[in-house]
Amino acid sequence: MKTIDDINFKSKKALIRVDFNVPLNDKFEITDLTRINAAIPSIQKILKDGGSVVLMSHLGRPKEGPEHKFSLQHLVPTLSEKLGIDVKFADDCIGETAEALSGALVGGEVLLLENLRYYKEETKGDKGFAEKLSRHGDVYVNDAFGTAHRAHASTAIIAEFFPNAKMFGYVMANEIASVNTVLNDSKKPFTAILGGAKVSDKIGIIENLMERADHLIIGGGMMFTFIKAQGGEIGNSLVEKDLLDTATDLLKKAKERGIKIHIPVDAVIADNFANDANRKVVKANEIDEGWMGLDVGPETQKMFKEVLLQSKTILWNGPMGVFEMENFSHGTKAVALSVAEATKNGAYSLIGGGDSVAAINKYKLANEVSYVSTGGGALLEYMEGKVLPGIKAILD
Ligand code: 3PG
Ligand code: MG
Repeated sequence: MKTIDDINFKSKKALIRVDFNVPLNDKFEITDLTRINAAIPSIQKILKDGGSVVLMSHLGRPKEGPEHKFSLQHLVPTLSEKLGIDVKFADDCIGETAEALSGALVGGEVLLLENLRYYKEETKGDKGFAEKLSRHGDVYVNDAFGTAHRAHASTAIIAEFFPNAKMFGYVMANEIASVNTVLNDSKKPFTAILGGAKVSDKIGIIENLMERADHLIIGGGMMFTFIKAQGGEIGNSLVEKDLLDTATDLLKKAKERGIKIHIPVDAVIADNFANDANRKVVKANEIDEGWMGLDVGPETQKMFKEVLLQSKTILWNGPMGVFEMENFSHGTKAVALSVAEATKNGAYSLIGGGDSVAAINKYKLANEVSYVSTGGGALLEYMEGKVLPGIKAILD
């Protein structure tokens, strides 16, 4: 696996595909720095060698050309501060002006290009567009793990213009190593915690984990599809009715393979989807009509903690409840604390997926787990065992 550690960048211009698709508030301030922070070490290594850097990324999903709210210019102050230099900006990712700016860079300088998705050629994987982008560098570095599941011009197609000068940055290398530790080299017992709203998003990963995990902890909105599949009463809780049979099959398969599935025994329920709704704790399979489960209850938290503290490898994807609302955040917080405690006791823990990463950051535990992934959809697909185009393009 070729990485940026394999060459010296002195007098070289590195074109790095990063994933700076970060959340911005209405003042265009970045509200979660995970992806920015993750990208800094690769940039610094190249600058330290005496090279220069051209950064390219998408931001959001602009529909038809430029849209101010999706401009990468909003990121320039933060990047400049993090790198301790004035990061330059090109208000177009291709074309004469952008090429003049990248062409004029000297060692130690960084240029950020405007949003790649202002051109539909990016998502279409257009070869001509990829060639134009390729003019910005002598070396192509892919460090955009979060976008590695897309076969886009800048993430995959462009690699063919750098047959002998394409490599992974540290984010990619670390993500690949971390997933490998969990999926192929896990110390037992290996526990996967899956949460979030939908079972449909997680079927692929559950199937793949069936071959590997010892324990599966299920929480979040998706738990109610499992509880209903087992004949429970779930009131007005979230449910995917068309997946009840799938849930039953998964439970059966797990049993056959000796995998323990832990499904919540109690839930915090509410009479309305609001933080100030009336709420109470009940058995998770005895929820009355007019009420909905929005978090796992205290018994469940205890049960999950016991499993986690015995685990030597932990994967966490998806929150346990609606943790954005304080009254329904306790289950997610308890899991975050248990994962941190297990890590302190020597377990390897990988946290991935936008919402679980947001949770781990909210409780300031990012430094107390082994690895926080920058990938959402990309991590899920990778964990499902799929080949990611962004990874394949470098390896080919
Ligand atoms: C993400 O945040 O999921 C990645 O940046 C990829 O973005 P996309 O889902 O719009 O392709
Ligand atoms: Mg996505």
